[in-house]
Parts: sequence; C-alpha cells; structure tokens
Amino acid sequence: EKKKEEGLRVVLIGPPGSGKGTQAPIIKDEYCLCHLSTGDMLRAAIEAGTDTGKAAKVIMDQGGLVPDDVMVSMIKENLDTPQCQKGFILDGFPRTVVQAQKLDKMLDEDNKKINHVLDFAIDDSLLVRRITGRLVHLASGRSYHKEFFPPKVDMVDDVTGEPLIQRSDDNEEVLKKRLASFHANTKPVLSYYQNKGILSTIDASKSANFVSNNIKAIFLSTLNFPPTFSLFK
Ligand code: AP5
Repeated sequence: EKKKEEGLRVVLIGPPGSGKGTQAPIIKDEYCLCHLSTGDMLRAAIEAGTDTGKAAKVIMDQGGLVPDDVMVSMIKENLDTPQCQKGFILDGFPRTVVQAQKLDKMLDEDNKKINHVLDFAIDDSLLVRRITGRLVHLASGRSYHKEFFPPKVDMVDDVTGEPLIQRSDDNEEVLKKRLASFHANTKPVLSYYQNKGILSTIDASKSANFVSNNIKAIFLSTLNFPPTFSLFK
C-alpha cells in the first residue's frame, strides 16, 4: 500500500451542545486547517432558499437526519476545495456509519485518511441548559451562550456587530429527538473509529478552556502535531 499523505484530518463527534462548534474555530486557527460543519452548511442552504435547504429545514426542525447521500456529496464538494487540501476539521459529519464508510472511501481515492477522531463525551442532562441558552451568528457559525459566554453587547456578534439568533431546533422538545438520533445513529460511528485505533475521548463537561488544552495535548502526544502559530498554552 502507498504511504498516506501527511496532514491533520480530524473528526469531532459529540451530542448536540457538547462544544464541537465552540472548539472547531479554535483548532482551525491554531493548526491552520479548514473547518467544515455540515450543520452550518445546511443552515446556509436554508438561508439561500435552495431546494436542498428547504427539504433539510423540515428534517432539522424535527431533530431528524438529512439523508446520507445528500450529506456525502455536500462534504465531497467542500473537501475538494484548495483550502482543505492541507488538513481539515469535520464537525457534525460523519453522523452515521454509512457516512463514515463513504468518507473513508472518498479520502482513500486521494491517498488520504482521517488521522484522529475526538469523542466529546458529556452527560445528556447537562445539554439542555447549553442548547436552550445558545445564541448563534449565522454567517460565521460562531456561538455564544446567554449565561456561559454572553456577547459583549446583548444579542450582537462581537466580531461583525450583526444580530445573533436562537436556532429553531434549539428547544427542549427537538433536543430530545436530536439526542435520541445521536445515541441510535452516531454512537456506532465512535465504535467504528475506536476499532481503527484513532479515537480519543474528551471530558466535554469541563470548561471550554480545559477542553481546548486537552485537544492540543492529544494532538501533540498522539500525532506529534504542535499548533502552527501559538506555543502550547
Ligand atoms: P448541527 O448543527 O451539527 O448540530 P448538533 O450536532 O446538534 O450540534 P450543535 O451545533 O447543537 O452542538 P455543538 O456541539 O456544536 O455545541 P456548541 O459548541 O455550539 O446539526 C443540526 C442538524 O442538521 C441535525 O440535527 C441534522 O438534522 C442536520 N445534520 C447536520 N449534519 C448532518 C449529517 N452529517 N447527517 C445528517 N444530518 C445532518 O455549544 C453549545 C452551547 O454551549 C453554546 O452556547 C456554547 O457557548 C456553550 N458551550 C460550549 N462549550 C462549553 C463549555 N465547555 N462549558 C459551558 N458552555 C459551553
């Protein structure tokens, strides 16, 4: 077999509200990677009013999963872009074993592979408060929290000054369904990667700062991959 290409290709897996979208932009900046969030892509499609967006909105508002083939082609289009060639962070994908298998096949054709998968482990009971208090800036995917990470100005994005919104699927009722889907469809993806020996589990109930440092320590010890621009903090 040919030697696989070097580069940091990481997958973040965790239930809704576990902190994937909070950590991904931090890792992206530190390691100079592209960040692909399928949730953000779908919300952008909804904003743009595309057919995919319209069909996805109905599913997302019920806490269900968008079909695998739709998600796989969405990821493929984005992985093929120049900014993702040196490495990437996948956030919200793969969410089913079928998606994981198709991703491996897609990467294998390019002589690449996933180097590491982070399991954001957290008890379901802690997620209600995180999800119902979340505020997001749609265009960038940045998230805040009414209590834990309030924006500098109420309901306004710190960086752009644009308004923040509450996601239509961020309520207790839909959260229950998203969590059920996580346990049924996405937990098996963790076993899929565990069997490949590339899974690390993080305690996602800790502070955001603790989680960031834990991720950096994992990349350094398992992959010998220090951050690009900052010293290890
Ligand atoms: P998606 O957008 O991926 O949502 P999700 O997986 O439910 O994840 P979230 O964005 O809710 O959580 P997060 O882990 O990013 O949490 P965050 O960092 O913001 O998917 C939405 C829908 O799209 C799905 O339900 C599905 O329908 C569809 N979809 C997407 N991908 C798909 C796929 N591959 N296949 C099929 N369907 C797909 O944190 C949450 C809150 O907590 C924030 O307010 C944050 O400020 C706060 N917080 C974060 N970390 C901490 C901390 N350490 N301590 C205290 N507060 C914290």
